[in-house]
Amino acid sequence: MISDINVQRAKDNQNLTDMEKKHVPVIEAPVEVTAGEPFEVKVTIGDIAHVMEEDHYIQWVELHINGDFVGKKELKPTDGKAEAVFTVVGTEDMISAREIMNCRIHGFGVCGTCGTRSAIVILRAVESCNVHGLWEGSAGIEITSAISKPGKKCRWGPEL
Ligand SMILES: [Fe+2]
Repeated sequence: MISDINVQRAKDNQNLTDMEKKHVPVIEAPVEVTAGEPFEVKVTIGDIAHVMEEDHYIQWVELHINGDFVGKKELKPTDGKAEAVFTVVGTEDMISAREIMNCRIHGFGVCGTCGTRSAIVILRAVESCNVHGLWEGSAGIEITSAISKPGKKCRWGPEL
């Protein structure tokens, strides 16, 4: 597991510095996926392609979904491009976990029983540049449940 302490991220996503453009992983993924169905996520370093030279290159790229490790790809200067493709599967558990988390955040809604069958989860990519250290980028995707169940109305109120 990577310690968060040394991982650098974009300070302002709308206004990346040149250093950030070359190092923050860019995540390409479907906007919406179905639980249980594998999909591909492509991670490229970065907005401006990072060099892949003997003395300066991207050593590896890792991907996590919802905090869970998906995979790690080791790279070499001879690979030419700093990119990796991962196969990812969203699960029903990720949707359930998100429903519970939303309830805690809102603090007063019973959204866990509202029948909502999709959740936004976070894809997080981390890369290691041999000169400039660890960098991360993230993107949200929506996972829709493959289980069809009749929805109940949200019960909103101050009682919880
Ligand atoms: Fe670098």
